[in-house]
Amino acid sequence: MKVLLIGGGGREHALGWKIAQSPHLSKLYLIPGNPGLNQHGEILDVSANDIPGMTAAAQTHGVDLVVVGPEAPLSEGLGDALRAAGIACFGPDKKPARLETSKKFMKEICAAAGAPTASYGSFEDKTAAKAFLKSFDPPFVIKADGLAAGKGVVIAETLHDAEAAIDDMLAGQFGDASASIVIEEFMAGEEASFFVLTDGDAILPLIAAQDHKRAYDGDKGPNTGGMGAYSPAPVFTEKVRERTMETIIRPVIEEMKARGEPYQGVLYAGLMVENETPRLVEFNARFGDPECQVLMRLLNSDLLPALHAAATGTLSEVSLGWSDEACALIVMAAEGYPGAYEMGSIIRGVDSANAQPGVVVFHAGTDERDGALVSNGGRVLNITATGPDIKSAVAQAYEGVAAIDWRQGFYRRDIGWRAIGSTK
Ligand code: AMP
Ligand code: GLY
Repeated sequence: MKVLLIGGGGREHALGWKIAQSPHLSKLYLIPGNPGLNQHGEILDVSANDIPGMTAAAQTHGVDLVVVGPEAPLSEGLGDALRAAGIACFGPDKKPARLETSKKFMKEICAAAGAPTASYGSFEDKTAAKAFLKSFDPPFVIKADGLAAGKGVVIAETLHDAEAAIDDMLAGQFGDASASIVIEEFMAGEEASFFVLTDGDAILPLIAAQDHKRAYDGDKGPNTGGMGAYSPAPVFTEKVRERTMETIIRPVIEEMKARGEPYQGVLYAGLMVENETPRLVEFNARFGDPECQVLMRLLNSDLLPALHAAATGTLSEVSLGWSDEACALIVMAAEGYPGAYEMGSIIRGVDSANAQPGVVVFHAGTDERDGALVSNGGRVLNITATGPDIKSAVAQAYEGVAAIDWRQGFYRRDIGWRAIGSTK
């Protein structure tokens, strides 16, 4: 099978690393790839924003399956374009991808499916929004409707800050993405990320992971795309998993099918769990990053047939086996991230990190310059390690971090603290 993988972050390096192990793979193409990923495939010189260009490249190279890592190309209709050209695509069409790209749509589907989520109101008018706000107690949750590069959610402790967020968003802070906003109830509990594959009908549950969104130790500092992750997630017990499948995942997939907009690909449910009861925070139409990387390390089965089956409507024939080990991941980010940071600093030691037992390093924001590996983004390297439990996986991942020589980088020293406090 010839596969084209879209994306160039840690998530895609992990997907490419796993796909490359498949006996079914004859050739892997990459757009845009990254210096770690390119050892597994051939980079095609097409922009990851160019929907017709990517579709044409898939045709020219006789690709059997396109695997889309990030949400942006899905939100711009890459899935639709590929399917129209007769090419199988892992990832939903633009309309069903609204489960991620429109918070208002996600809420409407949850209401129709009876899936538990925060109560909410949707607004384009600030006077009505502010009046609704007063029906909640602090903290207040205000969200831009559309994609806002992870910055579209404000949790405000005071009415004053909440009103300021409403004013900013409706004044066009995120352009079209915040022309409409959602105000919702604050949910207490512990978060977990759960993933399923689906072909629009059959559903294949994967496993859950937890990430650390804040930049600094103690879960302090600004929100990021994730500074570390681990799996299993102790909060995601068997009961929580059953409840998530029965109250959220299955009814939502059925609702999408009933609307004639079947959802196909991976569905990522961001959950808030309290008293073993899950409620939905958000859906994403793609794998989480960094969560995807720990999932790939724990998957014992061949991933490629499962992705192909999801894309071609044959998922009911597939099952997957998982390691009973744990996996931890430490993100190494550029000093200053998620604010302004410099690029181009030299990174050494990736090979020696990879030589540590159980360690695999996935690249995210890296580049090659004059034969040297340099930083080229905010989140730069992901150091993953497996072990018999989360505590030993975390300790081993930090052994990998210690082997990396990159003075301009930083990382959290407390990844997994919550899980290590409990048993696996
Ligand atoms: P989202 O982009 O919707 O996932 O929101 C980003 C983060 O904000 C989530 O991962 C949660 O930590 C937090 N968050 C969002 N909505 C809520 C809510 N209704 N209650 C509590 N926390 C929330
Ligand atoms: N790690 C969170 C995300 O991928 O959105």
